[in-house]
Amino acid sequence: MPTSQSSTLPTFLYGTAWKEDRTAALTELALRAGFRGIDTANQRRHYFEAGVGQALDAMYREGLLTRGDVFLQTKFTYRPGQDHRLPYDPSARLSVQVAQSMASSLEHLGTDYVDSYVLHGPASGYGWTDADREVWEAMIKERDAGRTRLLGVSNVSLEHLEQMAAVDGENPAFVQNRCYARFGWDRDVRLFCRERNIVYQGFSLLTANVEVLHHPLITGLAARADATPAQIVFCFARTVGMLPLTGTSDARHMKEDLASLSLTLPADAVQAIDSLAG
Ligand SMILES: NC(=O)c1ccc[n+]([C@@H]2O[C@H](COP(=O)([O-])OP(=O)(O)OC[C@H]3O[C@@H](n4cnc5c(N)ncnc54)[C@H](OP(=O)(O)O)[C@@H]3O)[C@@H](O)[C@H]2O)c1
Repeated sequence: MPTSQSSTLPTFLYGTAWKEDRTAALTELALRAGFRGIDTANQRRHYFEAGVGQALDAMYREGLLTRGDVFLQTKFTYRPGQDHRLPYDPSARLSVQVAQSMASSLEHLGTDYVDSYVLHGPASGYGWTDADREVWEAMIKERDAGRTRLLGVSNVSLEHLEQMAAVDGENPAFVQNRCYARFGWDRDVRLFCRERNIVYQGFSLLTANVEVLHHPLITGLAARADATPAQIVFCFARTVGMLPLTGTSDARHMKEDLASLSLTLPADAVQAIDSLAG
């Protein structure tokens, strides 16, 4: 993994989106299964961040984990990505919204710092705007005040990243993107990240690539490794330097996803998967 932070990063992130009132139970199940990285967001529309806090609290109280054992990542989400359950005053300026959202996240998660704070998505699909600059500066202030160790951006194009680098001068530690095999597994963004020691976090590796899971190359590799196609995809993701996310609700899949970390793929197979569809 291409970063000086590598030694303190988890090898897999457990994603907590869309779990609603099962969030606490499933996050606890994931932690018990061995996940040590948790991805959430202060966006009640898709995440129940306080449920993640409940799971952590249960693990701490049982003495199974301490705060330092877990990598916690959450996000700031602009007003259009939210429903009516806002973690900030929508009439406040963006820099204040970031501070309010962070304070609310820390309360939900029962901690005084997160490991990574991510801008959920830029304000526009077409470039890095003044709004994004204001939010990013506010996020840097949160980091400098010790409320997050690292910063990231999500749902970004190469254009966003290039513009951000040109105007803001500081690279994120993470990029978190949906990763489509048919777009070369986000090759251009991954290359940008690799050249700058930014860790690329890939999500929807299974759901965005259903055709890949049925492709003879993948099913053949899976059969030879006595693994599942999903495990081959996660193994590929790790091998090319991604930090993968899974949001499985199934205890068996949790174990399989973690077990994929001990699989290895021959270099020619990695190359073939890399150029499978784009
Ligand atoms: N930044 C963003 O905008 C953004 C957007 C979307 C997601 N995310 C993050 O990424 C996380 C993961 O989301 P995702 O889109 O990748 O989808 P996901 O929630 O991980 O869904 C994976 C789907 O594949 C199924 N599956 C089958 N076999 C599996 C296996 N071996 N391992 C895992 N899943 C298997 C799962 O079913 P079972 O439950 O039955 O296993 C589930 O329906 C989210 O929870 C969230 O934290 C971020």
